[in-house]
Amino acid sequence: MLSQRALNITPSVTIGINSKVAKLREQNIEIINLSVGEPDFPTPEKAKLAAIEAIVHNKTRYDMVSGLKQLKNSIVEKLEKENKVSYTSDQIVVSSGAKHAITNALMAVINPGEEVLIPIPYWVSYPETVKLVGGIPVFVDADKSNSFKVTVSDIEKHISDKTRVIIISNPSNPTGAIYSKKELEEIVNYCIEKNIIILADEIYEKINYEGEFTSIASLSDKAKEMTITINGFSKSASMTGWRVGYTASSSAIAKAIISIQGHLVSHPSTISQWAAFAALDKCESDMDNMVEVFKQRRDLAASLFDKISEISYVYPQGAFYIYADISSLRDKLPHNESLSMAFCESLLEKERVAVVPGIAFGTDDFIRMCYACSNEEITEGINRIGNFIKSL
Ligand SMILES: Cc1ncc(COP(=O)(O)O)c(C=O)c1O
Repeated sequence: MLSQRALNITPSVTIGINSKVAKLREQNIEIINLSVGEPDFPTPEKAKLAAIEAIVHNKTRYDMVSGLKQLKNSIVEKLEKENKVSYTSDQIVVSSGAKHAITNALMAVINPGEEVLIPIPYWVSYPETVKLVGGIPVFVDADKSNSFKVTVSDIEKHISDKTRVIIISNPSNPTGAIYSKKELEEIVNYCIEKNIIILADEIYEKINYEGEFTSIASLSDKAKEMTITINGFSKSASMTGWRVGYTASSSAIAKAIISIQGHLVSHPSTISQWAAFAALDKCESDMDNMVEVFKQRRDLAASLFDKISEISYVYPQGAFYIYADISSLRDKLPHNESLSMAFCESLLEKERVAVVPGIAFGTDDFIRMCYACSNEEITEGINRIGNFIKSL
């Protein structure tokens, strides 16, 4: 009854954990949920008001498939000012969240059987989206000592005549690592030489605690031509539910994305797009304040993890995750197939703390904790993780 495509897809582990948490909460069991990758701030006031105004003024009809003119122009300005890369508005396509932008982009460039390089650990949806569009995910492992950032020598081992795209999540979900300009230049020059398209997922770009951030497309004209930049409003403007993301790409790819999106969804909700426009135009200080709070939380979470000698972690320079190595617990924790799954299930059962098993990101020796929550939840959650480990 079901298509092979549907049967091939692995359900999202993160969504699975959330439903477990929801069920426990329904039974009035108090849970500290450090699993969801979502800012806990409300959407900035001016963005909300812009959406209300759009409704009141009947800005609720079909509009351009590629997105509202005003929003695309603002995105062009943002990319020029903040990311040092010049696009024209016809190279921007606004979509229903970054997830949708990634799907559009892959649909536009992948033929059935072509390969997409995905560095490990990866964001959970990359391999499944590649499979959905008929591509083949090819995993590239990298060194933990290099915060799992891939290098040309890692990539070279996995290249074939079917390699078409590489996906780079920068800052990374799940590690929070950020590539330097030099590291990116080496990868990008290699991709240009091999004619590999770079899908640069920069959705966490603003949540960057170390200062300078290099957008891949800004490296050179050729880099820009070979790159499809993914960005959006979910993380930077705390607008997860509004579903607004975008691609910036060559005009030819943008045109293909517009055709695809036109048949699939037309365009994202105009109301949400007006809110996103206001977020870009009027809410810069709200976004900066959120990043400052995330940085304090990163420092708090890292200092608490430092006290748990059994685990080490990739020091996060951006995003809002800590990716912690639990391999030293391998002999202490009974498990069949997956150590990280056993860890997370047992932690939830015994200490009522939800985190995501690393197996969902392709590395079973790790767990991912999200610190986009209150200082109290971070402190209590990590203390309980420490207690759990001591009890093993
Ligand atoms: C790396 C990465 N890319 C894309 C997305 C999707 O963002 P959106 O909610 O805008 O679809 C996420 C969300 O978790 C993410 O972590």
